Amino acid sequence: DKGGWSSFMAKEIAEQPEAIANTLRGRIVDGIVEIPELAGLGADTLRDIDRIVIVACGTASYAASVARYAIEAWARVPVTVELSHEFRYSNPVLSERTLLISVSQSGETMDTLMAVKYGRDAGVKTLSVCNTQSATIPRESDGVIYTHAGPEVAVASTKAFIAQIVALYLFGLHLANVRGTLTAEELAELTEQLTGVPEQLAEVLEVTETVRTLAHWMADTRSVLFLGRHVGFPIALEGALKLKEISYIHAEGFAAGELKHGPIALIEPGQPVFVMVPSPRNSPVMHSKIVSNIQEIRARGARVIAIAEKGDAAVLPYADEVIPLPIAELFMQPLLTVVPLQLFALELSTAKGLDVDQPRNLAKSVTVE
Ligand code: F6R
Repeated sequence: DKGGWSSFMAKEIAEQPEAIANTLRGRIVDGIVEIPELAGLGADTLRDIDRIVIVACGTASYAASVARYAIEAWARVPVTVELSHEFRYSNPVLSERTLLISVSQSGETMDTLMAVKYGRDAGVKTLSVCNTQSATIPRESDGVIYTHAGPEVAVASTKAFIAQIVALYLFGLHLANVRGTLTAEELAELTEQLTGVPEQLAEVLEVTETVRTLAHWMADTRSVLFLGRHVGFPIALEGALKLKEISYIHAEGFAAGELKHGPIALIEPGQPVFVMVPSPRNSPVMHSKIVSNIQEIRARGARVIAIAEKGDAAVLPYADEVIPLPIAELFMQPLLTVVPLQLFALELSTAKGLDVDQPRNLAKSVTVE
């Protein structure tokens, strides 16, 4: 039941504040993360791991790529993200001190299931992040963190994506607590930031009208580029994937620092480019680098749509459009930045008269390799 919404995707985007409140519910107690379901992966095991490999496909792999920065920053454990289907055939270097985390909304993605089985057979500990109760992948894993985002019907993943990042953040904070890499004050501060995310998500949804106008104006666009740095980079990839999936428009995401190593050659007059702008408060250096990137592409005629923290005056002179984000700390910002990109894909698909929920050639759950 779409509950009055024009599509399941529109409904699921709007449900994100509630979905994230559910991901967090009962898991933060006095500034400490508690995940009882981790049973098979106790504190001793988590203190002993020396490396984390996250396996996932598509959108889930971008959620993992965002969380990687946070887990490394908080728990000081090296984290790599591998596409499940690449991992299995890469003869990966694993040991009994490796933790293999899988991320899957459905819990049935065959590529990811096979990666988990491969890891288990190689003797590594396995943790799954999953949105579907008692799906196959969590049943095959030593521990599971359910995202509790509620059923996701639209093929294009939205609320599950944000919930995957939040669940991985919870794990990262738990790991940091167990390993003593963050102080009690730091943990309290970060858990408080997470607790504030549902409210910030509700605020960012207010950009819907602005994005709709933009999408209508761009309905005939043939190609859209997305640029980001650090946690904004996987968000750029996710924005591009959403657009490909439901609008059938060529879209590519790049690390902003890569521009001059090739992609800037694509910029010609009128080329739309979305830029994820980090907050100048959280990361002044990254912010000024992104502003230079915007100047570089603008000088070559790009049409720049900046997604930036409200009040960020530095981007105004160079951006054709600014989509304002609520004030948020470094690792919370990607959870908000992705929302206008989801809305843009939704609105563009709608403007083109396409079936938003059932894009051609795609299935919600990919149960073949
Ligand atoms: C994108 C999308 C896919 C899935 C991918 C993994 O909107 O939905 O890229 O994210 O097929 O699916 P799960 O998370 O079920 O393993």
